[in-house]
Amino acid sequence: MKTSTKLLLGDCKTELKKIPSDSVDLIFTSPPYADNRKDTYGGIHPDKYVDWFTPIASELLRTLKPTGTFVLNIKEKVSNGERHTYVLELILQMRKLGWLWTEEFIWHKKNCYPGKWPNRFRDSWERLIQFNKSKKFNMYQEEVMVPMGEWAKSRLKKLSETDKRRDDSRVGSGFGKNISNWLERTKAYPTNVVHLATECSNKNHSAAFPEALPEWFIKLFTKEGDTVLDPFMGSGTTITVAHKMCRKSIGIEIVPDYYYLLKTGIENQNLLLLEQAGVYAPTAKHK
Ligand SMILES: C[S@@+](CC[C@H](N)C(=O)[O-])C[C@H]1O[C@@H](n2cnc3c(N)ncnc32)[C@H](O)[C@@H]1O
Repeated sequence: MKTSTKLLLGDCKTELKKIPSDSVDLIFTSPPYADNRKDTYGGIHPDKYVDWFTPIASELLRTLKPTGTFVLNIKEKVSNGERHTYVLELILQMRKLGWLWTEEFIWHKKNCYPGKWPNRFRDSWERLIQFNKSKKFNMYQEEVMVPMGEWAKSRLKKLSETDKRRDDSRVGSGFGKNISNWLERTKAYPTNVVHLATECSNKNHSAAFPEALPEWFIKLFTKEGDTVLDPFMGSGTTITVAHKMCRKSIGIEIVPDYYYLLKTGIENQNLLLLEQAGVYAPTAKHK
């Protein structure tokens, strides 16, 4: 499968204008958090976050295909002893712009740092907020199914009479289950909590994703040949994973060092692929 990677250097607010309308299948990104990383790449004041993100969200809405999905990784910081409300305000603003707030996933960070605070416990999760342009969007649920697990073996060993027929919900929700239907199944659909360690092989960025995070969402919302966009690509984890998974990708980054590091990495990877396919023979200079 022929894939392509397009990297743009600059502010995504303006660079996004270069991307055609209705052309992207998945936007997966983690923008700078409010003020959090001031020392490394500049933060946005929490009170100004919604105003800052609004023109970017409008451009993202334009570039996404009607069948596409936008997954936004974000977490509100603590400000003056309270959780700031900018993420909640952002969701309301996105709805005003025309986005549908379809779902929210939780990224449970399995290995968060230990610590003690007087009035809260250590933070071990982040939001992955799903927005869509229309109610009908592409979703390949079978791609992220998980093994049934040990509990199923013991639960399914002794089935009661209720388990063998459809058991309608007692609260009248209209939902019901027939547990005996699960007997033949080896895999189940996952929940909306994604359990992953924060560790990542990419040490060039202070906030890089673990590769498994974009991988899970790329599997769920795209197929080979589709286009994945990360407008705040940082070290380019989303782009690198999309490339490995035979998706086309577009990344935007404002800091030249991150941009050039990834550009060189991708170019080397492409040369390696061509070399393996026997299309390109490296000269001593390239080796
Ligand atoms: C949270 S980091 C993303 C890390 C990324 N997910 C990774 O795996 O490396 C956010 C990135 O957005 C970049 N950035 C900040 N403002 C930007 C803007 N207006 N346009 C494009 N990139 C921006 C920062 O330089 C930073 O590298």
